[in-house]
Amino acid sequence: MKTLVLVFHPDLKGQSRVNAALAAAAEEMPDVTVRDEYALYPDGKIDVKAEQAAVEAADRVVFQFPLYWLSSPALLKTWEDEVLQHGWAYGSDGHAFEGTEFGVAVSAGSPEEAYQTDGANKFTIDQILVPFEATSNYVGATWIKPFVTYSAFGITDEALAESAKNYQAFLAK
Ligand SMILES: Cc1cc2nc3c(=O)[nH]c(=O)nc-3n(C[C@H](O)[C@H](O)[C@H](O)COP(=O)(O)O)c2cc1C
Repeated sequence: MKTLVLVFHPDLKGQSRVNAALAAAAEEMPDVTVRDEYALYPDGKIDVKAEQAAVEAADRVVFQFPLYWLSSPALLKTWEDEVLQHGWAYGSDGHAFEGTEFGVAVSAGSPEEAYQTDGANKFTIDQILVPFEATSNYVGATWIKPFVTYSAFGITDEALAESAKNYQAFLAK
């Protein structure tokens, strides 16, 4: 299975610790292609044809990103708005995601306890990620359970290494 990991972190090669480690772990995997979207498009101008070609070459697409304001960094929204075109991703001629698995790998600064209906955020991570699951459904992809790294603020080297190992297992499935 060919997996495409689209990483949306505004500073993957600089400030990022968690997503940088996860992206490096993904890059070690056979049949996994990692694209650093902010590095590819520092001016925010997405090459739609190149992104569509990358999706078409994949059997599974994973959006990897840090949770920003209970959603994604802005370029991911731009990517969806521009790449998921009518007649390509959806509509009667839009079959690009047919037979494709789709999922997200997110890091959250807050701990898992915060993502409970009785926790600080009042919603579970699955609830917060519903727009991605619904988008997956809308384009006819098969949604896979999200991969989540909690407590990204101050995560220990050991916990981060464990998460990177678990991410490789997630990508190998
Ligand atoms: C603008 C911004 C918004 C954030 N919003 C959230 C949030 O809503 N929930 C949360 O758990 N963490 C939030 N965080 C923390 C990031 O998710 C966390 O710093 C990131 O996952 C760490 O990954 P990195 O080391 O790859 O940057 C936010 C961070 C920034 C910079």
